[in-house]
Amino acid sequence: MKSKVIMIVCGIIISISIVGAIVIVNTKKFNVPKEEKKIDMGNALVIYYSATNNTRRTAREIADILDGDLFEIEPVSSYTEEDLDYTKEDSRVSKEHNDESLRKIELKKTEIKNFSNYDVVFLGYPIWWGEAAFPVSSFVSVFDFQDKKVIPFATSASSDIGESANNLAGFAKGGNWQEGKRFPSSAKDDEIKNWLNSLK
Ligand SMILES: Cc1cc2nc3c(=O)[nH]c(=O)nc-3n(C[C@H](O)[C@H](O)[C@H](O)COP(=O)(O)O)c2cc1C
Repeated sequence: MKSKVIMIVCGIIISISIVGAIVIVNTKKFNVPKEEKKIDMGNALVIYYSATNNTRRTAREIADILDGDLFEIEPVSSYTEEDLDYTKEDSRVSKEHNDESLRKIELKKTEIKNFSNYDVVFLGYPIWWGEAAFPVSSFVSVFDFQDKKVIPFATSASSDIGESANNLAGFAKGGNWQEGKRFPSSAKDDEIKNWLNSLK
């Protein structure tokens, strides 16, 4: 009886040790230490607009890598799936696209707390008909970027960033605008990180 108990206890100890070893090995394999992911570009702010989450994912990854802050550009009246249907002539985006006077989108917030504390500002947007989505041009035309370094990035299905960033810079209030970068709708983390490394 006594030896049976000893055998059971030994069995439990061996099982726990094996499970523990597997957990340690896997943790080492998959958990890249946080510091390895970080890039230092000073105090960074990522301003972005996203209608269907693609630019949001890229913006979050940039903020995560730079340990920066996020600011979302939000229209008072957000775009529904129907609104975004550019294949329909009478959808909201089509109407705004066809009539420039409709493109001044009312935004929830156009002020950013402690903006002067940032060293570098990223501005992310989806490409709409080859240009920055309308809420972004609306934001840029009223927000004072002061003397900040502004780095645009865009996501799109296939179009390049084209003149979209230059056009934003053209009517922006302030800012030292840098060359922009286009990412695919599902940008890979590695691609984002390589780009950020190239900016250092
Ligand atoms: C109104 C509208 C216009 C678009 N125009 C283009 C375009 O000209 N070129 C392109 O490659 N993708 C275009 N797209 C696709 C978006 O740029 C792409 O899906 C982007 O990643 C969406 O970003 P978001 O999810 O952050 O809104 C368009 C999408 C919408 C809704």
